Amino acid sequence: MSVHPATPDIIEAAAQRLRHGELVAFPTETVYGLGGDARNPQAVAAIYAAKGRPSFNPLITHVPSLADVARLAKVGAIAETLAHAFWPGPLTLVLQRTADCPVCDLATAGLPTLAVRVPSHPVAQALLTAAGIPVAAPSANRSGHVSPTRAAHVEADLGQEPVFILDGGPTAVGLESTVVDATGASPVVLRLGGVTREALQSVLSMPVAVARGDADLPASPGMLARHYAPHTPIRLEAVRPLPEEAWLAFGPETGNPVARAHVNLSPRGDLVEAAANLFAALRTLDAAGASAIAVAPIPERGLGAAINDRLRRAALGRGD
Ligand code: TXA
Ligand code: MG
Repeated sequence: MSVHPATPDIIEAAAQRLRHGELVAFPTETVYGLGGDARNPQAVAAIYAAKGRPSFNPLITHVPSLADVARLAKVGAIAETLAHAFWPGPLTLVLQRTADCPVCDLATAGLPTLAVRVPSHPVAQALLTAAGIPVAAPSANRSGHVSPTRAAHVEADLGQEPVFILDGGPTAVGLESTVVDATGASPVVLRLGGVTREALQSVLSMPVAVARGDADLPASPGMLARHYAPHTPIRLEAVRPLPEEAWLAFGPETGNPVARAHVNLSPRGDLVEAAANLFAALRTLDAAGASAIAVAPIPERGLGAAINDRLRRAALGRGD
């Protein structure tokens, strides 16, 4: 199905489709999501089928406000503080489901917890409000590809699938939401993303752990090590590219390196701008037919931690 501009009429039509169990890809401030009715197992199964997901990873449920979350999950003190500080925005909270939570088991992969998010993008807000149902939405890419930050990326990955694609322009944040497990006495970051660990700690006035992915601090179920891989091998911490490589630069560059293709994530060295450009840059360089994508060092501060997390996963191997 083709791409549609996100006008008010078309958003209303897309909301109808969601209510009828059909799939709608829509922009959020992080990345484009592939949405379906979270209560409807057929709709959720269609999401997994369209993505070609090898397994049923739990999905994030999207609603337009914190008030809508209360019907789905238990919002404790930590969750409430984080919700007030960061919603609507690029934060996902993992909470205990309520006893009568209508989200189907297929959407949560049978877990007793629910991941919820209130996105800020005006098109996402309008769509969720018009639909009036909880919307399960993973990133709208084929399984193993990098997340889409433009409607054209969604079309490239899912254009052959029965998916109605809403075009709301390029996404502002460019990285997925930060996922925080708020079910325990202290919060744990399961996935670094659009909200930094520093920002979480300052709002909560307590240290926030980041899951290492081992038995003590397991990462979220969807954080497969190989998740974010382009097809071209990745070479991290490169000083300069080889002529047959593609070059992913960051910060000011002196001279013009000889490379098969060249994208600078942020010539002025801005990590927010770099995050917004990351996935589009990986797609562009992946298409260059290079022997590898050489990546300049990215500082580990602020959003750099999440950017480096995605790049390390991309470097681990080819996507599936
Ligand atoms: O920015 C985003 O979060 C985007 C937009 C569309 O909202 N969505 C997204 O969804 O990235 P997805 O499916 O690609 O990633 C969802 C992440 C996975 O790492 C998954 O394991 C985790 O959330 N997750 C979902 N439910 C969970 C739960 N109950 N407990 C722990 N982790 C959970
Ligand atoms: Mg994803």
